[in-house]
Amino acid sequence: MTRETWATRTGFILAAAGSAVGLGNIWRFPWMTAENGGSAFLAVYLLVVLGVGVPGLLGEFVIGRRARRNPMGALRDLSGSRYWGAVGAVSAVTGVALLSFYSVVGGWILRYLLVSVTGPVTGGAAYLAAPGPYFQQIDFGYQAALFHLAFLGLTGTIVLGGVRRGIELGTKVMVPAVLVLLVGMAGWVVTQPGAVAGYQFFLGFDPAALRANAASVLAPAAGQALFTLSVGAGTMVTYASYLGEDRSLPFDGSVIALLNTGVGVLAGLVVFPLLFSQGVEPGTGGPGALFVGIAGAFAALPGGELLAIGFFGVVTLAALSSSISMLEIPVAVLVDEGGWSRRRSVATLLALVALTGTVTAFTPALFDFVAGTLVDLLLTGGLLAFLLFAGWVLGPDAVEEYATGAGALAARLVTPWMLAVGVGIPIFLVFTLLTTAGVDAQFGVWPTVAAAIAVVALVLLGLRRRGVWRAVK
Ligand code: PHE
Repeated sequence: MTRETWATRTGFILAAAGSAVGLGNIWRFPWMTAENGGSAFLAVYLLVVLGVGVPGLLGEFVIGRRARRNPMGALRDLSGSRYWGAVGAVSAVTGVALLSFYSVVGGWILRYLLVSVTGPVTGGAAYLAAPGPYFQQIDFGYQAALFHLAFLGLTGTIVLGGVRRGIELGTKVMVPAVLVLLVGMAGWVVTQPGAVAGYQFFLGFDPAALRANAASVLAPAAGQALFTLSVGAGTMVTYASYLGEDRSLPFDGSVIALLNTGVGVLAGLVVFPLLFSQGVEPGTGGPGALFVGIAGAFAALPGGELLAIGFFGVVTLAALSSSISMLEIPVAVLVDEGGWSRRRSVATLLALVALTGTVTAFTPALFDFVAGTLVDLLLTGGLLAFLLFAGWVLGPDAVEEYATGAGALAARLVTPWMLAVGVGIPIFLVFTLLTTAGVDAQFGVWPTVAAAIAVVALVLLGLRRRGVWRAVK
């Protein structure tokens, strides 16, 4: 059977942008921003998106398009080594781990949407009367599990349709709808009393706060940047493997990153003013903050019930266009490597995630661990592996693949890109891993930097000794 490809160029861009734009922008971003000091976090996050996220995205694209295979097959075929295949296989695990918590949050959203839509009939959406207690009632337990299954079912239905008739068609509808609705809502929010305080919190740049917080904000900002761009999981390797023709990867990657950042900022322009208009201090309430705060705003504002339908509708679409990209990673592995049909792969994985997600839906501590620490580790480690692979195993082939279809401007950036991919970003990623482990708190920032450099140097020496090393001259 021939491998499917995207039908159109916009199809690929929208699918990848749809993967990037998701709960990361709307639910995790305001939560992380609020927890890490508002605009200081925003500034660091934007820098990391630009300096790490975009080059990293390109690294995954280059691997995927070169191999035209899933992450496991791609690393194995391109290197000729089973060990790299095993490294790539971690992506399938990452996809399942991501989906196991994402689908629970997707279920919450789906429930809020349903309750908003049926509100006028049932005498007002239930969450409006008492947002806090309502969320606490539904966040974990069998109801959360049921809605998780519903959300997972929707995800599976789209992926079952395949690359063109499922993912491409779906994201072609979902992504523009998200954009239009968000712009409309941001415009509406401007007119709300008290919105200014929200804009100030979000955009009021405070250099002193940034200087004071830069080190502590770095790791969460980096994790968030990877998460929101869907980088490190192998999703982008997989999506790029369905590219049929050669177009400019740097261009497509920049468009995707721009769209994603734009949606993130737009979502902030909607969420923060709404929270402040209700006198809600963001930064408390953890993962439920969005649900509780925003429900309070909808309850208080004129026309809020209508706005609620729009809002939860947008978030549902954004979440679905991301969750399908998580499921597609292990599906591609089973289809390519196992020779399974798409139907059988989807069914098997749905059964698996139905189980793992249900456990998560019953276990708040597990949810926090998977959604936070585990995902940060898997994405950071995954990107580290992809980039070392692109920089030192693909080497000259990565340069060639990058340049194929790239315009003159992008082609000129290939050397800095290779340096970033092979050296700079790996050191940065190891550094954030070390700070997450508390090394900087123990030994100070500079010793931690030195340790990160040493770790990367050791890994490169190891690669060289194993003979897979193909440095660019
Ligand atoms: N980028 C998605 C979001 O922001 C999450 C995601 C991460 C999707 C990794 C795929 C892979 O919601």
